Amino acid sequence: MSNNVNGKKSLFADLKEHPVKILALIYPYVLIIGVGIGLFYLSKTNQVGNNLIPPAAIDTTTFHDLPLIKPSTAPAADVMTLSQPNDALIAKGKEIYTTNCVACHGADGKGDGIAAGALVPKPRNFTSLNGWINGPKISGIFKTLSEGIKGSAMVAFDVISPKDKLALAQYIRKTFVPNPPEDSKDDLTDLAQKYKLSVGGKNSEQPAQSQTNPGQIPIKDAMIFTEREGNEKYEKIMDVLKQISSDNGSGANIFNNVVDDKLKALTMLISTDEWHNNEKVFVDLIVNELGQDGFNDKVHFLSDSDWDTFYNYMSKLL
Ligand code: HEC
Repeated sequence: MSNNVNGKKSLFADLKEHPVKILALIYPYVLIIGVGIGLFYLSKTNQVGNNLIPPAAIDTTTFHDLPLIKPSTAPAADVMTLSQPNDALIAKGKEIYTTNCVACHGADGKGDGIAAGALVPKPRNFTSLNGWINGPKISGIFKTLSEGIKGSAMVAFDVISPKDKLALAQYIRKTFVPNPPEDSKDDLTDLAQKYKLSVGGKNSEQPAQSQTNPGQIPIKDAMIFTEREGNEKYEKIMDVLKQISSDNGSGANIFNNVVDDKLKALTMLISTDEWHNNEKVFVDLIVNELGQDGFNDKVHFLSDSDWDTFYNYMSKLL
């Protein structure tokens, strides 16, 4: 075939005659790329565990976090009946307290649970009547559990049904609070009205209503939000999650496709402002921490126009 000026065969022609030499030619490159990928992954494993969770990190060997719970609907509760303490109700309250509240409020209700350390403000000490915001009446505790306390790690526990919230209130008052103040009849009717609970059992004029709850995020994730705007971020994320799950548009489809851990991905995006005016920053943010930021490697298959769609969609949501 074609000879070059030196009279030697060109590399191409040589390879065509002896195809096996191709292997020898590409082998070093394959080796370098392989080792490169290996080193890259090793370097990434060092970063596991030093993202997102603040320094007061929870000892995960002894601490069982709340599971992430998807939105659902809970049955109604009858306030007048459930405002009377009874053993079964208090036992139920204790059970829920142990799984959901001990981490912060402690087994003795003193606000000294394992996750309480870094929190500002500190979890309420139930054994004192000082410092309460909504108060230790049943109606006060119910309000706290339904709305959370803005600017603190006390988030709304909408995942707990109204009946279980009342059981918790009973348990806390009975076990920890010294001489807890009683609710007046008005307190209870106001409570029932405000949260659309039923009053007066089966014969109630007000029909029992079921309640929707928007789900729950694990405490370790909620602990990212210990600053004053905490609840707003939490609520925003739950709201965005809801919007995405009820959306079939291309933006939502891309999100569902490239995200493994929705909570992590949204937390990362909501905690970073720089990407808002710059799509390149958005792309870098996602791609650079891939695997640790909740996104998966399917992002590599997004075309430029997919990225545009995705960027515009997330910009609109967050
Ligand atoms: C992530 C930590 C955390 C968890 C988990 C938690 N709390 Fe709290 N809680 C707090 C903090 C912090 C406060 C104090 C808020 C403040 O002073 O602004 C608080 C305050 C309260 C108060 C007092 C509200 C008032 O009137 O001042 C009640 C009642 C309460 N929590 C009940 C619960 C119950 C019941 C659970 C379990 C379902 C629970 N908390 C789980 C952190 C937590």
